[in-house]
Amino acid sequence: MADKKARLTVDGLDEAIELPVYSGSEGPDVIDVRPLTGNGLFTYDPGFVSTAACESKITYIDGAKGVLLHGGYPIEQLAEKSDYLEVCYLLLNGELPTDEEKDKFVSTIKNHTMVHEQMSHFFNGFRRDAHPMSIMVACVGALSAFYHDSLDINDAHHREVCAYRLIAKMPTLAAMCYKYSIGMPFQYPRNDLNYAENFLHMMFGNPCEEYVPNPILAKAMDKIFLLHADHEQNASTSTVRLAGSSGANPFACIASGVAALWGPAHGGANEAVLTMLEEIGDESNIEEFVAKAKDPNDPFRLMGFGHRVYRNFDPRAKVMKATCDQVLTELGVEDEPLLKIAKRLEQIALEDEYFVARKLYPNVDFYSGIILKAIGIPTSMFTVIFALSRTIGWISHWSEFHSSPNKIGRPRQLYTGPSRRDYSK
Ligand code: CMC
Repeated sequence: MADKKARLTVDGLDEAIELPVYSGSEGPDVIDVRPLTGNGLFTYDPGFVSTAACESKITYIDGAKGVLLHGGYPIEQLAEKSDYLEVCYLLLNGELPTDEEKDKFVSTIKNHTMVHEQMSHFFNGFRRDAHPMSIMVACVGALSAFYHDSLDINDAHHREVCAYRLIAKMPTLAAMCYKYSIGMPFQYPRNDLNYAENFLHMMFGNPCEEYVPNPILAKAMDKIFLLHADHEQNASTSTVRLAGSSGANPFACIASGVAALWGPAHGGANEAVLTMLEEIGDESNIEEFVAKAKDPNDPFRLMGFGHRVYRNFDPRAKVMKATCDQVLTELGVEDEPLLKIAKRLEQIALEDEYFVARKLYPNVDFYSGIILKAIGIPTSMFTVIFALSRTIGWISHWSEFHSSPNKIGRPRQLYTGPSRRDYSK
């Protein structure tokens, strides 16, 4: 329902075009530009910096104020009082579960953690040194070959079952990637452990002895999952929505999200942060790297700094920083050389005019990479962990898209190539 109207005058058109303006429950009003096509016009917004591509009730971000809400609940409160699976329930259903609903949800997820035994054969086709994200893209898409009983995207129950399967199986697949890379046997999931503990068991356990998870590290792992759970219409979520708009099956759509997340400007940043810290190597080299980042003629950027939406601070980064300090104290590794470089970089970014003027604050990936490294997770697995955490966001948006009338996504373009010409040589 349009609350207001905008009027657009265009040179060459006799009359102003009237455009409805809608107000959401939070955030800026949006102008409905659909009447423009009837007047022979498109909007132009490369990078979608000022385009709302859909209506959504799942997550709200106010980048200027550093606010992130899931179902209306601030991320700081969820990180302190809730846990990852509860947030998964919230994102899928729009409300926090009662104790009974939560128990049922947790038990349902536990019952779906194993992957089809045939799936393990896929791994043998990969080189041991394959990047785990390449295996994830393949294996997540391949899930659609196994679960034919839940692929009717128009059936709400099928959509729900797919969501459960994805939330439950992503940690199993992720840990299998790691075990394969180091030539160790896959670890079956354990139902006596919680979600994060079970992931650590599948990553670091072995068949010869019982794995006992460290509660502080398991809690930190759960926080990393929770803080990455959803972030409204980012590049990978928009990719999942767009793939879903064609009617593609959910596993294929989530595989497209994994692929989009892989890039260093998005989820690949946590891996890129550690690679950058290793490249810097010593505190004495920091100035040189900072100068490169500030040089307009050098494409180098400080990984883990800046965000398209947050122009004040990233609320997830605040929680992550506190978790980071906890983990480093627990493990007694505060003096690690890479951490010293990270701390110095953080200080420079918070004080240097270049970063302050452009509002380039450390983002969530700056701290998550440091925590993951301290826990003993290899750098190449960082983006995989982001992907498993974000799966709930992707599937919740995919499900929301299919829960109401929808259209295939089909952006248009400003064409600047040759005009029509006749073939001649
Ligand atoms: N280091 C140095 N300069 C930077 C950086 C950086 N990390 N990020 C942005 N800038 C500069 C940029 O050069 C530009 O300067 P100028 O105005 O002089 O031309 C200005 O800041 C604005 O940058 P932008 O490219 O217009 O910003 P954007 O909104 O398009 O990009 C970003 C956002 C996250 C892609 C970018 O900040 C970046 O590449 N950061 C490093 C990668 C990273 O950490 N990504 C993880 C994001 S958080 C996790 C997630 O949500 O996926």
